[in-house]
Amino acid sequence: MAQTDLSVELGQRRRPRQRGWSFERYQRLREEAAADPLRFWERQAMQLSWYRRWERVLDDSQAPFYRWFVGAKTNIVANALDRHLGTATQNTLALIWEGENGELRTFSYFALHREVCQFANVLKSMGVRRGDRVTIYLPRIPELPIAMLACAKIGAVHSVVYGGFSVEALHGRLEDSASRVLVTADGGYMRGKVVPLKEIADEAVARAGTVEHLVVVRRTRQEVHMEPGRDFYYDDLMVLPVTRGADGGCETEVMDAEDPLFLLYTSGTTGKPKAIVHTHGGYQVGVATTLQLCFDLRPEDRWWCAADPGWITGHSYIVYAPLILGATSVMYEGAPTYPYPDRWWRIAEKYGVTILYTAPTAIRSLMRFGDAWVTRHDLSRLRLLGSVGEPINPEAWRWYYEVVGGGRCPIIDTWWQTETGMFMIAPVPSSPLKPGSATLPLPGVTAQVVDEEGRPVPPGEEGKLVLTSPWPAMLRGLYRDPERYRQQYWSRYPGWYLTGDSARVDEDGYFWIIGRTDDVIKVSGYRLGTAEIESALVSHPAVSEAAAIGVPHEVKGHAIRCYVLLRAGVAASPELAHELADHVAREVGPIARPEVVEIVASLPKTRSGKIMRRVLKARALGQPEGDTSTLEE
Ligand code: WT7
Repeated sequence: MAQTDLSVELGQRRRPRQRGWSFERYQRLREEAAADPLRFWERQAMQLSWYRRWERVLDDSQAPFYRWFVGAKTNIVANALDRHLGTATQNTLALIWEGENGELRTFSYFALHREVCQFANVLKSMGVRRGDRVTIYLPRIPELPIAMLACAKIGAVHSVVYGGFSVEALHGRLEDSASRVLVTADGGYMRGKVVPLKEIADEAVARAGTVEHLVVVRRTRQEVHMEPGRDFYYDDLMVLPVTRGADGGCETEVMDAEDPLFLLYTSGTTGKPKAIVHTHGGYQVGVATTLQLCFDLRPEDRWWCAADPGWITGHSYIVYAPLILGATSVMYEGAPTYPYPDRWWRIAEKYGVTILYTAPTAIRSLMRFGDAWVTRHDLSRLRLLGSVGEPINPEAWRWYYEVVGGGRCPIIDTWWQTETGMFMIAPVPSSPLKPGSATLPLPGVTAQVVDEEGRPVPPGEEGKLVLTSPWPAMLRGLYRDPERYRQQYWSRYPGWYLTGDSARVDEDGYFWIIGRTDDVIKVSGYRLGTAEIESALVSHPAVSEAAAIGVPHEVKGHAIRCYVLLRAGVAASPELAHELADHVAREVGPIARPEVVEIVASLPKTRSGKIMRRVLKARALGQPEGDTSTLEE
């Protein structure tokens, strides 16, 4: 395998001994955990604080509706914030935030806790109670983690909608979660331009019926419409006496380990995004354990997870796990190339970042600008690099390793999903690496690559990636849709979780992820469903039918290509094709903008009328069309 050769060439060279666990000792831990996974997870759980201990580690009697740490009482905020108060950590920086315009804001654990308490009191004063859903639609600013933590503190369930999504995506998520409060901003900065978040929010709220109040963070300070009695500015609310609480704080709600912590919508195979449900108890154990293992976080580290808090990566590894571990995080608001392509490296140098965790698509896009933008900065404090979201290609791996990491920093390639909540297949700093492989399942995690019948495939052969036992940070279901949860993840191979990915395992047991096997497209690491894009297209008056596919793209990994049939009497034109691409970007968000919209006279369909995307894809790539015996067209 070409990629394995690269590992011989690069992987083991010039690498200083990592602190912490040797690989041999780590392998023993994996073996011990394999022999008794529940004991492993229980030991991990014992390092966190709980209001009441569990009666059982795992209840699998209602599988696939698993329950972890049954009977325990906790709140993830008790571990993320409360337990640091009164310790030296309260004076440690929890967050170093840089705005796109260069603004700097920092929060010690003490200050972050105080802000969270105040906002929690604001939410309470608006009538938000335990179990209520709150939607958060914010740019990458400190108020985003603050709002999440405030919800968690009072037992409300947050649903963060990525600030790059647009009206229809926000509307669907507001309505499905029946949120009563929406936290948003007057606008956000991206590449020096203002994203009109409040305008989008107003339109989404007008389409959805449930929202009673909007809290608006002042970020860009431009004039926005404020509905009297409905909309309030965040900073106006934060100075009200009520937000101070009885003694300047806010009681942390005692939650059951299995109570929901958040909903996070992600794309699946239907047009309707599904809400993944994560809970307080198992999730905190899973994310804290895996961040500690894979990145060996220490008090002297400066951790930078460059994802957006609006995705699971940000939920788990910007907000919750680093805070539980008492770490110092760096967060940056804007585009990596603003105003110049060295913005990230400037930030890494300025704040002494020791660990950078990002996605291959970001690496590829920065790589294009050449090495000099990186090498003019002192990145000597970096000791580990991380990758997530899609397989990392050898070229990007090599550049990341050599140019960014100076040939010193192991690349921690973490495979996981919104659904898994935590890293599942990933190395630790001492693991022998093979570029492009996420290496081995973590302790307490079991994965296999199997054929159609569920038999493990021989080394080197492609098959379906399944997880064969439950794990604490696993999704507990899809919000209000238990049947879809069972059907989608647990019905293909009873008792096993279907990931939707195909993969290979090599002779050393290393996992190589190939990609999605369903109608999910990974565009710049973002997960989009073909059906979501298609339903946005057919919502345009000119379109009668549409199909979307993903085609390989040098920087984005995959790009979206659409085929549309127009309604009778509508004339095709390049302008219309352009307008349709704009329409998708407006409805779903700029990340969903199709690269190409092609107006066609017919679409390949089965006799039962299903569009055969597989055939479109083969045609787009100039590959053989495969079995087309069911093709009607
Ligand atoms: C899908 C999950 C997990 C946070 C970000 C994405 C792909 C994820 C890797 C990796 C190869 C990867 C898979 C997976 N994926 N990490 N290290 N190597 N592929 O979360 O949006 O839920 O997407 O991302 O296809 O199924 P997500």
